[in-house]
Amino acid sequence: MRIMGKLLSFLAFLLLLVGSPAFAHEGHKADMSDAELAQMRAQPANARQATPAGAASQGTMAMEHAHGVAPDAAAPAAADNHVKSLGDFLGRLHPMLVHVPIGLLMAALLAELLFIWKPMAGFGIVVRFLAVGGALGAVAAALLGWFSAGWRLHDRSDTLMAHRWNGTTIAAVSIAAAMFAFRANRTPLRILLVFFAIALPIQGYLGAEMVYGPNHLGL
Ligand code: HEM
Repeated sequence: MRIMGKLLSFLAFLLLLVGSPAFAHEGHKADMSDAELAQMRAQPANARQATPAGAASQGTMAMEHAHGVAPDAAAPAAADNHVKSLGDFLGRLHPMLVHVPIGLLMAALLAELLFIWKPMAGFGIVVRFLAVGGALGAVAAALLGWFSAGWRLHDRSDTLMAHRWNGTTIAAVSIAAAMFAFRANRTPLRILLVFFAIALPIQGYLGAEMVYGPNHLGL
């Protein structure tokens, strides 16, 4: 009986954790396609509020404001900007944490290049530190990303779909890289560090496409 009680409490906790989050990137959570998201962005602020989708777009508007894309559209959204659940809050932490794996894993490649140039023990320790720190950051960032994007395996938005699985792969591979950093044979680690140098900028680009809008680089 006591075990059943504990199980029910745990299930209630899980529900609270993943309970229907609101605000930031409601569009992504609501599984909108890239075209629908672009259309939502293009709508004037008052039109967005008047439609059912308008409620979902409030979060995007606030984020647009944060990045200076559509400041006039953001004012009404700020009032609605309340955390709805623990899952919602965790998702909001994703943009804050993503810089940790990007910085540490890219720096690990730099430190490894220094180690190749001058194979001193000091550089080896730095590489281990960066690889382990980068792995912890990548796993945490990916987990928060799932809270932000919603818990599903397929997205109607191609950008979110690519970002979701590229990010999850980076997190998984970073665990292997952290373990390889302690091996005498450095080839597997070097291969994975080169993989990060390609996958992380792609990941950052896709993330920014979602936050700033399509073709945010303006090329
Ligand atoms: C190592 C893994 C990851 C990195 C480095 C990363 C990086 C980023 C970056 C740079 C942004 C743009 C943030 C901004 O400019 O404010 C972003 C946004 C976003 N990412 Fe990730 N990401 C990762 C994993 C994931 C995963 C696994 C998911 C989904 C399952 C995800 C979902 C999102 C969503 C929905 C956004 C839009 C902003 C938001 O709703 O918070 N990310 N990500």
